[in-house]
Amino acid sequence: AGVFTYDPGFTSTASCDSTITFIDGDEGILLHRGYPIDQLASKSHYLEVCYLLMYGELPTAAELEEFENTITRHTMIHEQMHNFFRGFRRDAHPMATMVGVVGAMSAFYHDSTDISDPRQREIASHRLIAKMPTIAAMAYKYSIGQPFVYPRNDLDYAANFLHMCFSVPAEKYEVNPILARAMDRIFTLHADHEQNASTSTVRLASSSGANPFACIAAGIACLWGPAHGGANQACLEMLKEIGSVDRIPEFIARAKDKNDPFRLMGFGHRVYKNRDPRATVMKQSADEVLDLLGVENNPILQVAKELEKQALEDPYFIDKKLFPNVDFYSGIILEAMGFPTSMFTPIFALSRTVGWVSQWKEQLADPQHKIGRPRQLYLGSALRDYTDIESR
Ligand code: CMC
Repeated sequence: AGVFTYDPGFTSTASCDSTITFIDGDEGILLHRGYPIDQLASKSHYLEVCYLLMYGELPTAAELEEFENTITRHTMIHEQMHNFFRGFRRDAHPMATMVGVVGAMSAFYHDSTDISDPRQREIASHRLIAKMPTIAAMAYKYSIGQPFVYPRNDLDYAANFLHMCFSVPAEKYEVNPILARAMDRIFTLHADHEQNASTSTVRLASSSGANPFACIAAGIACLWGPAHGGANQACLEMLKEIGSVDRIPEFIARAKDKNDPFRLMGFGHRVYKNRDPRATVMKQSADEVLDLLGVENNPILQVAKELEKQALEDPYFIDKKLFPNVDFYSGIILEAMGFPTSMFTPIFALSRTVGWVSQWKEQLADPQHKIGRPRQLYLGSALRDYTDIESR
């Protein structure tokens, strides 16, 4: 037997090498291919960041145009896939629908599943990035009983997503450019985050040589949990439950109580022990959107602002280095835009798709890659003899 390191939760295990994303949690630094996230969020846009993550360099104007055209050509899903949506209950969580429908893509796109062929890997990646907004929007439309809205390829990625979610055939819908920009920024800020739980899930699933669409479905399943992508929904639901500023101390006291499992959702991070650089940009975006929509007096936002203030001044949160994370602010923006909380995590999933496929491509291109197979610390019974049922 070899010597193993016991590392529950993989807090100190590097599972791969990677050139995509760099995080310094103590300094609050996040770089994609070397570029700081705040520069990308303010100067670039989502599809350009997708190109950067996938191919390693910022695109030239011609490369970007070609990439955008490629993504735009793949936005429709196979018409027969509509049947998968219809098989779900209307009250299904859209993440449940997405796990199912994205998994089902493995039964459709056979010309992009030969993972030994780099070109097929690229096509699978393009398809996933292009179709995920369509799938997320369809899951939403289905859940509210409205007809599916087909993608409009003359709109940019974020505007098209808002169109598919909020337009109805009977009414003219104009996408507000400020909201489209805020949506794009949410996508950009969630695009990749190195070896987080869902990305590691995608890599582990793929390490067996599994179908690309099935691997991404595994990532979506992992992201759904409240300790990961599900935190944005959980955070907003918590803010609503708190309801008014005067109840905040009660909830802070609960979060600090060791005997109470309650945590302040949207606070804390496994890696960022100083500040979450995404949260800083997201906070600015939240202010812009709320100014535009004239909801400065939104009680949820007041609770959010006051909770942030009180928690940041509290020795418990200071000592444990618990700061608001990206989900704290993204939830507020999405709420203001009119998304139900159940759509928050699907939006995270569609944003993170590029991170998943970039990491997946990197893994498959690495000649050293092998099947992931953690070991364990066995604490069960020692060897013993089987007893017949009569004598138990
Ligand atoms: N509220 C109250 N106490 C907390 C919180 C919180 N949100 N987060 C951590 N703690 C305490 C925890 O009880 C523990 O205390 P002690 O050392 O006395 O036992 C200490 O801080 C360290 O926590 P941990 O659970 O050991 O830290 P972790 O790195 O395993 O967990 C986390 C990180 C993000 C899961 C956790 O902070 C958490 O549950 N936060 C709330 C959920 C959330 O907002 N998640 C979104 C993460 S960002 C987006 C994403 O990556 O998906």
